[in-house]
Amino acid sequence: MTDPEEHGDADDGGDSVVRRERFSGGPAREFLSSLSADERIFAADLAVDRAHVVMLAEQEIIGPDTAGEILRALAAVEQAGHEDLPEGEDVHEAIETAVIDRVGPEGGRMHTARSRNDEVATCIRYRLREDVLELIETVVEAREQLLDVAAEHTETVMPGYTHLQPAQPTTVAHWLCSYESALARDTARLIDAYERTNQSPLGGAAFAGTPFDIDRERTAELLGFDGLVENAMDGASARDFLVETTAAVTGLATTLSGLAEDVVTFANRGHVEVADEYASTSSIMPQKKNPDTLELVRGRTGDATAGLNGLLTTLKGLPRAYNRDLQRAGRHAYDAIDSVTASTEVAVGAVVTAEWPADDLADAAGEGFSTATGVADRLAQAGIPFRTAHEIVARAGEAADPDIEAIGAAVEAELGESLEEVADREAIEAALDPEESVRMRDSRGGPAPAALRAHLDRVREDLRADQEVLADRRESIAAAATTLDSEVNRYV
Ligand code: ARG
Repeated sequence: MTDPEEHGDADDGGDSVVRRERFSGGPAREFLSSLSADERIFAADLAVDRAHVVMLAEQEIIGPDTAGEILRALAAVEQAGHEDLPEGEDVHEAIETAVIDRVGPEGGRMHTARSRNDEVATCIRYRLREDVLELIETVVEAREQLLDVAAEHTETVMPGYTHLQPAQPTTVAHWLCSYESALARDTARLIDAYERTNQSPLGGAAFAGTPFDIDRERTAELLGFDGLVENAMDGASARDFLVETTAAVTGLATTLSGLAEDVVTFANRGHVEVADEYASTSSIMPQKKNPDTLELVRGRTGDATAGLNGLLTTLKGLPRAYNRDLQRAGRHAYDAIDSVTASTEVAVGAVVTAEWPADDLADAAGEGFSTATGVADRLAQAGIPFRTAHEIVARAGEAADPDIEAIGAAVEAELGESLEEVADREAIEAALDPEESVRMRDSRGGPAPAALRAHLDRVREDLRADQEVLADRRESIAAAATTLDSEVNRYV
């Protein structure tokens, strides 16, 4: 049976009118078309067309006059906008048709030495890199805000939990920085994904190269790509850049979901007061103030994982080279990245505008004998084996009020000696205080204010390095766009 994909593709040459009549008028027309979804890559396609046409002219594959006419037509198409495009299977075909409508048959030279297969792969990379940079910027700004708030709360003691039970006192700054550290790794994964996204498959044609003397490095340079996806078959087929970008986005969403869950739980316990603009009321219960924004951040993790799942399922088992399944791939990445970019802003906005009631937090920080570990640590520092110290403090913890007297009694019972004989009573008593409990844990990465301030200095440097990477990538894209503009202007 005839395969309309095979024979209907503009890449195969032939009479476009005949082709369109034979293959695009049937009941599957809507089904085949990606034109409306392609709005997202409309600007990308125009840039790719311009770079390709400039390169074709430079290589003397098309004449300068033809290049000028095509480039002028592209400007008019851009001016008219995506909604004004003629019908077509996709934005690539529609823009080509619009150019030919304006220029006549000479406009058809634009599609020399390329295919929609390398074209679309290039467009997706060109667009996605912008989205990734925007997300990186959002995450980097979020990290900066978290660090600013952390700097104000290095002494704000709060309860720390394991298994959702009071575990050891910590500080609001330590909690905030724990998420900033996770977001720094999410940033690194996004930067990593960006590096492999920003490679040009353009010039690979359908998958099998071209006899024309094209200059692939030149189009890559004009479009601001850092290098080539060299193998033409790989370039047309590969969408793993979508997978790793969406995976990085999903990792970020998972980080945010933990942050959101913490704030929901803290709000429930009165440990934090979410600002009104990040809360919702109930339509029936007048007294309610709910942390809905954070619940939606937690819920949007599903958007990201759905995107990753959808993408992997779409790509699984696809043979070389181009298959139309690929038309369904990009949207999963776009949906995930849009959803999580918004989540990042809202999650961090909610956290940095929240109020931390210091007195209530300090009271709560001592609940559930949360200073027990610090007491055991002090006993062990006095020379008692840690396991024995652990048993002593566990025994003291059975008392109704595990105070210094209870610890003294437990020492007597375990060791047959008084507390004063085995340790410095004052140091043990101090360790029962949540604030001192925090202050004494000054190991690197610990919550003691001094340790935390040193941590803040280090991570601010990491943040600055990421800001530089972002600025550098933005600059190189902007510089390429300026070059492309001036090269285009030589012909128009
Ligand atoms: N709209 C297509 C896509 O998004 C473009 C490539 C079409 N190529 C083809 N041989 N039918 O993947």
